[in-house]
Amino acid sequence: MTYKIAVIKGDGVGKEVIEEGMKVLDVVAERYGFSIDWREFPFGAEHYLKTGEVLNDSSLKELGKSDVIYLGALGDPRVKPGILEKGVLLKIRFGFDEFINLRPVRLLPTISSPLQGKEPRDINFDVVRENTEDFYVGMGGRTKREKQHETLSIIRELYKAKFDLDVETDSEEIAYQIGVLSREGCRRVITYAFDLCSSRGGKRVTSVDKANVLTDIYGLWRDVFEEVASEYPSIEYEFNYVDAVTMYFTTNPERFDVVVAPNMFGDIITDLGAAIQGGIGLAASGNINPDGISMFEPVHGSAPDIAGRNIANPIAAILAGGLMLRTLGENKAADSIENAIKTVLSSGKVRTPDLGGRSRCTEMGDAISREIE
Ligand code: NAI
Ligand code: MG
Repeated sequence: MTYKIAVIKGDGVGKEVIEEGMKVLDVVAERYGFSIDWREFPFGAEHYLKTGEVLNDSSLKELGKSDVIYLGALGDPRVKPGILEKGVLLKIRFGFDEFINLRPVRLLPTISSPLQGKEPRDINFDVVRENTEDFYVGMGGRTKREKQHETLSIIRELYKAKFDLDVETDSEEIAYQIGVLSREGCRRVITYAFDLCSSRGGKRVTSVDKANVLTDIYGLWRDVFEEVASEYPSIEYEFNYVDAVTMYFTTNPERFDVVVAPNMFGDIITDLGAAIQGGIGLAASGNINPDGISMFEPVHGSAPDIAGRNIANPIAAILAGGLMLRTLGENKAADSIENAIKTVLSSGKVRTPDLGGRSRCTEMGDAISREIE
């Protein structure tokens, strides 16, 4: 079996950590009897500064010829914030309708969580964030002391919606943002969360919303959640308000198996998740379309403050590679990556500076590769 994997190393430490990830994935592939056809794409700051190109439709098509995408990070102090992040990252997420953002939250051995007394068995859950709807659909406006007509629309493969707004105000200026959830959009991500819970042998799915205040938008979310939950009678479920869930993430992380959240709340609680698992150098993420092209990346950015010094922690990128193999169905290879990381950390000999050590990025990649071999 040969997997076609598109690679965008991107900027800053993105390049350094993805090289370690590729190293580990090649080793694990050899060990488990498959191979990887790496297809590198140059998108990122250098490419943009040289050519003025971010990622056009024909490149998107080219990316779509691979089975999955492995991405480092985008962002460079020489480029105006947002250009690369939106032009490449969001273009891929939306272009391939990657409606699931999967963020495992697991405390690894020897890593100290900021939560006192918590062990790896206490912090071990998955957050499933909806990745395409909610207040992130990009519809809103600002009106100054006048009357204005606005037509806002959203066009998706799943559905179309149009808003004709007559805005009239005597305020100096008002601003508004329209959040949209669709029944179809809620159903597919909530179903994914329940399936994930069964496949990991979990007990419970937790829904996050704010249905007590934002009653329409998250009222629909709850309705659909209950419908889906009724199709999985052996899995328990609960509703948490987003404010309460931030409290439970820090006081009772043991209670979670799979947490599913609409886009904005998911964005916020996944950073909290990365924090309680001991830091940004360890957090991996998948942007998933189960029937399409998915993209896997470390949660962190290009870290210009430490770029080019071979001191970034590659574990987040390597874990993202493991998540990618799991999605391709190579579960044994993915387990092997996770186990090798645990063994290397437990031995305590190789630790990058963010973990209090002095090892290099490449040394960490080498140690994990050796352990797999
Ligand atoms: P960042 O995640 O790049 O860095 C935040 C802090 O964490 C820095 O102190 C950095 O040194 C540290 N850090 C990050 N990754 C690390 C690693 N692997 N090992 C050890 N330490 C690590 O976030 P920041 O500084 O807010 O953003 C820098 C650039 O990255 C910006 O252009 C931003 O837009 C972009 N960015 C891109 C993302 C992506 O491509 N998915 C995600 C987040 C930010
Ligand atoms: Mg975020």
